[in-house]
Amino acid sequence: MTRTRYAVFGQPVAHSLSPRIHAAFADTTGIALEYTAIEASPDEFSEVLETFAAQGGAGGNVTLPHKEAAVALCTTLSERARRAGAVNTLVRTAEGRWHGDNTDGAGLVRDLTGRHRLDLRGRRVLLLGAGGAARGVAPALLDAGVQQMVVVNRTPARADALVDALGEPARVIARYWDDLRELGDFELIVNATAAARGDGSGFSLPLSLVNSMTTAVDLNYGEAAIPFLAWARASQCRNRADGLGMLVEQAAESFALWHGVRPQTDPVYAMLRERDVLLVTAD
Ligand code: ATR
Repeated sequence: MTRTRYAVFGQPVAHSLSPRIHAAFADTTGIALEYTAIEASPDEFSEVLETFAAQGGAGGNVTLPHKEAAVALCTTLSERARRAGAVNTLVRTAEGRWHGDNTDGAGLVRDLTGRHRLDLRGRRVLLLGAGGAARGVAPALLDAGVQQMVVVNRTPARADALVDALGEPARVIARYWDDLRELGDFELIVNATAAARGDGSGFSLPLSLVNSMTTAVDLNYGEAAIPFLAWARASQCRNRADGLGMLVEQAAESFALWHGVRPQTDPVYAMLRERDVLLVTAD
């Protein structure tokens, strides 16, 4: 049987769980495929992608730091990728071009509403960060019916740019990090920063952000999610989630785009969660 080729592109990418997730989906759906992790620096990314296509690559996932660069390499974009200004899923078209999509936001919303049973409608959301990860999830959170989204980023200009791009000034506003104390409380706080990926230093946010319903979700998983979730626990946030559920859900969305079949996600999520100790120490 011919195994169609898929891959995740990033740097670093060796730690990526995507090959394991897609192999598990392939097993349960009976679809034969090969899915590998391909390391590419920003300088190499375009060439590496073309080589992959020339060798029969049918689709790919894009992770750090290429999500925004991937936009320029696509001939067509889905509406959600265009709004996000970031691509996490590539589909090779019959014409031999790349179509770019972004399944991150749908993955987050599915994790929150399905797995964690949250109703996002009418909620106030604090989005921390304005980089690729934040851009990927913001449109889907708006589409899920949140009442207001406040974007706070270390570099204010990037928060302004994200808010401008979202184009809903009545619902989405940018604020400074120094203003966090004056923003009131939120039912959902999303950490889309890479703060803990660097020196792993602690996360300190005002307690005033938290109310009796607050869910805190970190788009990171493993070690990188520890500081924010430790803050959320100390602040008595009602629910806390790392990015593992979103990772599995965005992968399922990508899988469905490529193969026309939506795989079951709970078994794969449970399998990865069982190895949580490993995730925290090794991934
Ligand atoms: P990603 O694709 O993961 O979003 P990115 O585009 O490099 O990566 O964005 C990283 C995000 O984490 C940005 O919002 C960044 O803030 P700046 O725009 O000010 O750089 C944020 N970030 C990184 N390190 C941080 C830190 N130590 N404290 C707060 N925010 C941080």
